[in-house]
Amino acid sequence: MNIRYIVICFFLIFISNCILSTDCENCMIFQCNYTTGYCNKCVYGWWGPNCENQCSRNCFTFCERINGSCAQCNQGWYGPDCQKLCPSGCANGCDKVTGCCDKCQFGMVGNCTCSIPLSCASPDGFTCDWYNSCLQKYTTSSCPVIDDVMYDKCQEYLNLEPSLSLQGQRWSQHVRRCIQNILAQQVLVPAPSGQVNCSFATDVFFDNHVDCYLSGPVSFCNLPYLDMGSIVKDGASILFSKYYYEPFKTLLELSRACFVEFAELEMLKLEDGRYSITDDPETSIGTALNKTLLEYQMMLTFLPYSSNTVNNATSLLVLSNTTTMEPIQPDLAQKLIDSTISSWIKENPTYQVTFNGVIEGK
Ligand SMILES: *[C@@H]1O[C@H](CO)[C@@H](O)[C@H](O)[C@H]1NC(C)=O
Ligand SMILES: *[C@@H]1O[C@H](CO)[C@@H](O)[C@H](O)[C@H]1NC(C)=O
Ligand SMILES: *[C@@H]1O[C@H](CO)[C@@H](O)[C@H](O)[C@H]1NC(C)=O
Ligand SMILES: *[C@@H]1O[C@H](CO)[C@@H](O)[C@H](O)[C@H]1NC(C)=O
Ligand SMILES: *[C@@H]1O[C@H](CO)[C@@H](O)[C@H](O)[C@H]1NC(C)=O
Ligand SMILES: *[C@@H]1O[C@H](CO)[C@@H](O)[C@H](O)[C@H]1NC(C)=O
Ligand SMILES: *[C@@H]1O[C@H](CO)[C@@H](O)[C@H](O)[C@H]1NC(C)=O
Repeated sequence: MNIRYIVICFFLIFISNCILSTDCENCMIFQCNYTTGYCNKCVYGWWGPNCENQCSRNCFTFCERINGSCAQCNQGWYGPDCQKLCPSGCANGCDKVTGCCDKCQFGMVGNCTCSIPLSCASPDGFTCDWYNSCLQKYTTSSCPVIDDVMYDKCQEYLNLEPSLSLQGQRWSQHVRRCIQNILAQQVLVPAPSGQVNCSFATDVFFDNHVDCYLSGPVSFCNLPYLDMGSIVKDGASILFSKYYYEPFKTLLELSRACFVEFAELEMLKLEDGRYSITDDPETSIGTALNKTLLEYQMMLTFLPYSSNTVNNATSLLVLSNTTTMEPIQPDLAQKLIDSTISSWIKENPTYQVTFNGVIEGK
């Protein structure tokens, strides 16, 4: 094979038996060219130009002469040289190339890794723990809506629950279970190796609220106004984080589904007399809300407001019908303001809320 070996062999032949020289040590019988020291075929378990490398001990039989790649792995291992351990939830080993379980152990699910207990795949929804002990635990990619929003929101509604009517409590229990189950089935279980597509997860979370709100034993539409008000107010607090468009859209879809129009008048903290949470007009809350509102023939206007009112607000928000400029279902709006928004305003005196000219805020 090369000069070096010939020379070594030349000297060795007089001292020891060249047949046992390293060159052909792991060579199959009759496959060694003792002139060149080149081996045509290695014995099982060895590879390399001179069969000097041992195959991975997780190789089921032989490995490739050229690169040590195993033909087949012992059960429980995968990868070209079978050095990677199959996921622990696999029942009978895993695919040599992808590492995906062939079959899950009893009680386990999950795309590829079988790492998710069945209880996580169909949550009972009694509490919000599922978000931590299942969704976050078994997903490997970071996703802000999962990490920062879902559990907190769930917990907020759980805390609100005792103050709702009995109807409202049944509604709330259903919604919690419904949203968790949808996330489990559409996001958690199918995520390959726990890698969640975050924008998909965000869509699934926000897009399914309305269905869950309407599909239970008690529909949102049949709740007492007082419940509706508290629920809407809690939901809308998310408007102050980066997810303002989605919850607002949900709110408007709900009003359409229930054939009521409620004015959800949450105000943004003012900065320099403006209502924007960002300086970019394209993504400002006003623009986002307006877009959605216009679809519903409603209009949002921000007006500068003199600060000589009791609570020193400097702007006000007006929600009106684009056709008539009339208040939208004034009775309901008034009820909402009475039931929830008034108390909120009292705690936040720098905000001013109006509903088509009805100024609240004592
Ligand atoms: C061994 O290798 C030499 C040099 O390439 C070649 O001439 C010879 O035919 C080979 N012998 C066998 C048995 O393959
Ligand atoms: C190793 O070599 C074999 C045979 O040439 C080839 O089929 C296989 O893809 C190689 N494996 C790797 C990891 O390069
Ligand atoms: C698992 O994930 C892969 C890759 O995204 C996908 O193609 C496949 O359909 C998924 N399987 C299941 C059962 O969801
Ligand atoms: C992630 O989800 C979004 C929205 O559902 C989709 O448009 C996108 O193609 C997905 N990306 C990947 C890598 O699957
Ligand atoms: C909302 O749309 C109306 C009608 O196009 C417009 O007059 C108003 O200035 C818009 N408000 C905001 C905050 O963009
Ligand atoms: C409104 O502003 C005036 C002048 O700055 C101040 O004296 C008054 O306490 C403020 N009222 C409230 C409710 O903050
Ligand atoms: C706005 O007023 C028009 C005319 O009265 C009415 O047909 C429409 O339903 C109203 N839209 C809303 C959102 O209240």
